[in-house]
Amino acid sequence: MLRRLHHTQPESFAFTPENQKWAEAQIAKYPEGRQASAVIPILWRAQEQEGWITRPIIETVAKMLGMADIRVLEVVTFYFMFQMQPVGSVAHFQVCGTLSCLICGAEDLIAVCREKIAPNPHELSADGKFSWEEVECLGACSNAPMAQIGKDYYEDLTAERFAEIIDEFAAGKVPTPGPQNGRYASEPITGLTSLKIPEAERVAENASRELARVLGDTNMRITDGRGTGRPSGGNPDAAPESAPRRAAEEAKPASEPTEPKAPQEAMADAAAPGDGPELLKAAREGHADDLKRIKGVGPKLETLLNQIGVFHFDQIAAWTDNDVAWIDGQLNFKGRVEREGWIEQARKLAAE
Ligand code: FES
Repeated sequence: MLRRLHHTQPESFAFTPENQKWAEAQIAKYPEGRQASAVIPILWRAQEQEGWITRPIIETVAKMLGMADIRVLEVVTFYFMFQMQPVGSVAHFQVCGTLSCLICGAEDLIAVCREKIAPNPHELSADGKFSWEEVECLGACSNAPMAQIGKDYYEDLTAERFAEIIDEFAAGKVPTPGPQNGRYASEPITGLTSLKIPEAERVAENASRELARVLGDTNMRITDGRGTGRPSGGNPDAAPESAPRRAAEEAKPASEPTEPKAPQEAMADAAAPGDGPELLKAAREGHADDLKRIKGVGPKLETLLNQIGVFHFDQIAAWTDNDVAWIDGQLNFKGRVEREGWIEQARKLAAE
């Protein structure tokens, strides 16, 4: 495939203040004279902000890293993860069409793209929200067929589920990434037979998905512009105030924050009185209880609980049914609190 600069380019590019700060922090990781090593993460962040890699992005990044423009262009043209033409304002779907995915139904996924998005790859849908392409193996063959959407993998897809995912994005939602058939990771569909994860250490979702969700670092951050400042005008073929972007904005709950917050702060804000349990921004007097003393809470669950603002036994001991439902919803605990008797255990531990 010929990869070259798109014929239409925006006038300029600038990172949002938040992304600029992030980019400078990446550059600072490398010793003097090695700043060029930060080129890929910085280009990726620019793509998250704008949707695709424009000529002004290449020039800006080259200047930041003390590189020649052509060196940055070489990186962009080499790696197919960098989009060199405008993509859908809400999502760009990269469907794997290599062997494992192909024999497991990739052609059906591509047919869905042709029907629901546009007849040809790299063509914007009529409303400008979506685009798609077929890509080579994305390294998730044991969860074939799969597609990458933004930074997330959606795996174990069927044509029906894939069509639903497109509809959910169109409605302003972000479907949970990962396996779509109930698998935790890439274990046999009938369950693990070896290398089992001890129950106490399991989190509801597989590790990278759970962490991304807790940190608010999923496609949501990209599709609603939080943390990226991605403007609708990043696509030169779109109107300055793109209708699709506006529709996605309108689909957001009115209370949704416009600026990214630390996960803990965001979760604490979400817990308005009556909406969920008492959450703290930090452990009282700087000393959190050892939540791992609750049977069923392992190191990972303890970290997750701390991240949402639960540090003490008495917080858990005070949970009502509504609070448990709220926690279930936030962390996909799916009945663990009740099944493992966390509240009773926490009461005893708090009394100690
Ligand atoms: S063949 Fe599709 S991920 Fe490898």
